[in-house]
Amino acid sequence: MQKTVVLVKPDGIQRGLVGEIMSRFEKKGLKLVGLKMLVLTDDVLDEWYKHHKDRSFFDDLKKFMKWTPIVAMCWQGLEVIPAVRKIVGTTKGREAEAGSIRGDFGMSGSQNIIHASDSVEAAEKEIGLLFDKDELFEYGSAMECLIYADEEIK
Ligand code: PPS
Repeated sequence: MQKTVVLVKPDGIQRGLVGEIMSRFEKKGLKLVGLKMLVLTDDVLDEWYKHHKDRSFFDDLKKFMKWTPIVAMCWQGLEVIPAVRKIVGTTKGREAEAGSIRGDFGMSGSQNIIHASDSVEAAEKEIGLLFDKDELFEYGSAMECLIYADEEIK
């Protein structure tokens, strides 16, 4: 099954939204396979946001992401990358769909609470940047048969 990376950004940490955010993914039926708190370094951020390095906001974005530690999670599930992006909502909180995390909790497009991988390639890269092999777990889910039909998990 697919894996994706979710970060609770510094504004989400400051606002005490870690539990709320994790709860939404748990209730959706996703499987938590990695979890850690860490301070992002310049090296990781330069690689993470490489595709934005020429944007005017690049330095501010890096500074913001180093403001406090962040919480990084790896979630697993069927087609989990697009499923999580829907739960997260579009970039600007003030435009994001009500019911999404950004739509429910924010207004900003830069201080937007949460990050989620946007493609399989991005998820692989982000997992590699943040998680050692022994920090990702494989275990049987007792709930899987309730979350998916048999033919979806064959
Ligand atoms: S865009 O504008 O379409 O490229 O936005 P997007 O690809 O969704 O995400 C850009 C990431 O940079 C963060 N960021 C900003 N985006 C736009 N404008 C400003 N001023 C800005 N400042 C920071 C934005 O939150 C996205 O971060 P991630 O971590 O990918 O969600």
